[in-house]
Formats: sequence, C-alpha cells, structure tokens
Amino acid sequence: MSDAIAKTAQQAGTTAVQRCILPGCAAQFGIREQIYVCPRCGGSLEIEIPLELLKSVPDLRERWQARAASHDPRDRSGVWRFRELLPFDNDAPVVTLFEGNTPLYDAPRSAKYAGLTALLLKHQGCNPTASFKDTGMTTAVTQAKLLGARTVVCASTGNTAASLAAYAARAELQCAILLPQGQISPAKLAQSMDYGAVVCEIAGNFDDCMRLISELADVPSIYIANSINPFRIEGQKTVAFELLEQCGWRVPDHVVVPGGNMGNSSALGKGFDEMLRLGLIDRLPKISVIQADGSAPLAHLFAGLKPSEIAADAALPDEIAPVANPRTLATAIKIGAPVSWKKALRAVLRTHGSVITVSEQEIADAKAIIGRDGIGCEPASATTVAGIRTLTAANKIHAGESVVAVLTGHVLKDPDYVSNYHRGTLSFEFVTAEGTAKTVPISGAFRNAPEKVAANKEAILKSLENRR
Ligand code: F0G
Repeated sequence: MSDAIAKTAQQAGTTAVQRCILPGCAAQFGIREQIYVCPRCGGSLEIEIPLELLKSVPDLRERWQARAASHDPRDRSGVWRFRELLPFDNDAPVVTLFEGNTPLYDAPRSAKYAGLTALLLKHQGCNPTASFKDTGMTTAVTQAKLLGARTVVCASTGNTAASLAAYAARAELQCAILLPQGQISPAKLAQSMDYGAVVCEIAGNFDDCMRLISELADVPSIYIANSINPFRIEGQKTVAFELLEQCGWRVPDHVVVPGGNMGNSSALGKGFDEMLRLGLIDRLPKISVIQADGSAPLAHLFAGLKPSEIAADAALPDEIAPVANPRTLATAIKIGAPVSWKKALRAVLRTHGSVITVSEQEIADAKAIIGRDGIGCEPASATTVAGIRTLTAANKIHAGESVVAVLTGHVLKDPDYVSNYHRGTLSFEFVTAEGTAKTVPISGAFRNAPEKVAANKEAILKSLENRR
C-alpha cells in the first residue's frame, strides 16, 4: 500500500464517530466515549465510518481477498481483514480468536424443502465459540481494552455469554454474565464456566437480565458487551462483506436471519448499506427476520404496519409492544423486548424484506432437514429455513431467486433438543389465551432415533436393509 493510501485507510477508522440513529436528534459523539445509548435522547447509537475517505482507496476488494492468504493475526481474522471499515486505528490492541471466515454451503435438501431451486447456508456456527457472536465480540472486547475497562458484562440466552467469556479470557479481563436461570442450554453454560466467567444465574428471564445490565451502565470500570453496544455491530457487519466476497460480489436476492435481540439483522443491514454506499455493490439484498411464534414482538409490530409505513424511508414507530412471557424451545431467541428492534426494522424496510413468525413444529422439522444436508445448527438458526418455506409459499420469495440463510449457532450448542426430537420426546409448553399451561408434543417428520442392534454382522446388514 502506498503511504498516502495507507494513511487514508487508517484515517477512516480514527475519524469515525458514534451517532444517535434517531433522525430528529442525530447527536454525534467521539468513538472513545464510553456510552451505549444517546446521552441526549436515549436513542440507539451507531458508528459512522467516513466512507467518502475510503472511496479514494483503490482495490479494496482485492486487498481484503489477499489478506485471507496472509499469516498476520489481523489478516487471519475474518473481521479484522476488513479493518478499513472498523472504528480502530492500526495500533489497536486487537483481541482475536481468528473469528469469521465461515463456510457458505450449498444445501440442496433444505432448498427443496423450502420450495427453492437452490439455497445457500452461511454457517456462523463455525466460529471459535460456535456462534455468530464471535464476530462482534472481537471488536467489543478490543474496545473494552482501549477504554481500560476492568470487567466486561452481558445478559445472555447463552451464546453471547460463551463468546464474551472466551474473548475476555484472551484479553485477561474479568467477565460477568447474567443468565436467566434454568433457561439456557447446558452446553452453552458449560462453555462460559470453562472460559472462567463469573456466571450469575438470575431468577427471571432474558429481558430481566437485560434490564439489570442497563443499571450497570454507569459503572466506569464495567463495559457492556450486549449488542446495544455499537462496537459489537461493527464486527458483526463484516459478515455481509465476507458473504458478498463468497458470492463473487453478486448480491443475493434475499438474506434471511433469525431475530432475537436484533443485533444480527441490524449489523447485516449496516454492512450491506456500507457496501452500497462505497459503490462495491449496486443494490441491496432483501433482509428478512424470522421469529418464533411465542417470542415475536417485531413480527407482531410488522404485521400491524400500514402500507404507507412499510416504505423504504418510512419513519420508524416510537414503541414496540414487548411480549411479557416469551416462549420457545429455541432458547437463543426467547426474547420479549429486543433492544435493537429499531435498527433491525430499518434494515428490513430499507431492503423491502419481511418479519414473520414460524411455529415450534416448523423450527424442529427445518432443523432436521438442515441436518440431512450434513450441516448441523441449533434450533434458533433453523427458523431461517422454516421462514423461507413460509415466504416461498406466500410468493414473497420465488423459487429461482438467490437466497442465503444465516445459521447462527452450531448443532452441538443444544444437543438435548436434537436428541429429544429424534427420539420423539420433544414437547413444548405454552399458555392458552385463558391462562392455562398446556404441553404439546413436537412430532418429528424427519425423526432418526437410534435402534438396538444385536452384536453381529447379519443384524447390522438387516438393519441397513430395513432402512434403504
Ligand atoms: N441465533 C442464535 C444462535 C443466538 O444465540 C441469537 C441470540 C440469535 C440467533 C438472535 O440474534 O439477538 O442478534 O437477533 N442470542 C443472544 C445471546 C441473545 O444472548 O446469546 P439477535
């Protein structure tokens, strides 16, 4: 890189600002101010990278691609490889586990099931702690180091916690995680224990944990790593860049993600938007968000929007009605009051996507079908394929369009769910409109239970014959 260009690229990072997303406020703050919401109006913050500086940097795409073959630790990371678009300078104390660079798989069985000719699965479960959270935690924990934090904290349904615990361990920072007691997959909890975090099991749900986190925001030595933190979003947005690179810079028609606290959908929206503004792509993919029936505040809001409120530049509603007692077996997205719903809705509206719900049965069957493609994911991730099936049936996605589903977590994140599905023992408890609790079994259209086979060759061959 010539000196002048190197300087320009670095300048983009150091002249970035934090800005309130509410158009009526749009207040601006320095990138090393330890704030999580707008100190003026309480709105969400986002990082604004001065993209006009980067427009003069030639060959950005080639530069990013070339780094993938380098052994520099920052180049080995699928996040820091795109550092021209991150709000850090070249001396930042990068905390990395070599996150990102995840596979994009062709999934023919899932495609057929969803009513498509072809379907691509971007497997973010192939990250160091087995979920997409790592791409955002590398930037958030690097920022924590820069700010001189002593302790990093988060509320979590399990994956954010596991990821933060790992990155905090790498950075030698204390880590505290707030989890809703009894509502976390044991595999995720085990990760956080192993990485040395202070695990606080809270008598409440995720939304209660999140409320407690906001009360900790004014303690200077504590740094909050939930996705309300705009530095998380900066790392997570690079998934859009990597995906475009993997698609040969041909923009997919649709990108479909699960929706929980809504950081992921917000980040993808920002990533694609930056690529468009830099002129590296000429249109945006439609971003659609899928929620579980029993935990779907944004889908409810979206379903109630009038046609005039669905326009790309429509003003965002001020409020969202939270779901008081969210329910779903996809515990990762069991969230009733998502903090980043405005940013996510903005991304959906700008790109003409949708927000819909899917049932527990649909999630379970979609998960098993993804498995049949040889690709294991956790239940929350399978909302995508279930949702694409619904959108295809409703003619919102057409069979020949290019579609990418983002799988957010690995199958081993929730082995109990998988085992129960295949053994036929999975069930879902919900509360009826009259307020009584009811348990419904989840039947497994694609069940694959183990069978007892005698310890001899004939029995094994017979078993194979029966299953042909
Ligand atoms: N998929 C998985 C596997 C998740 O862990 C999460 C969120 C989501 C999807 C939803 O993503 O919140 O960005 O909309 N998990 C958080 C956690 C809440 O604490 O691990 P989102």
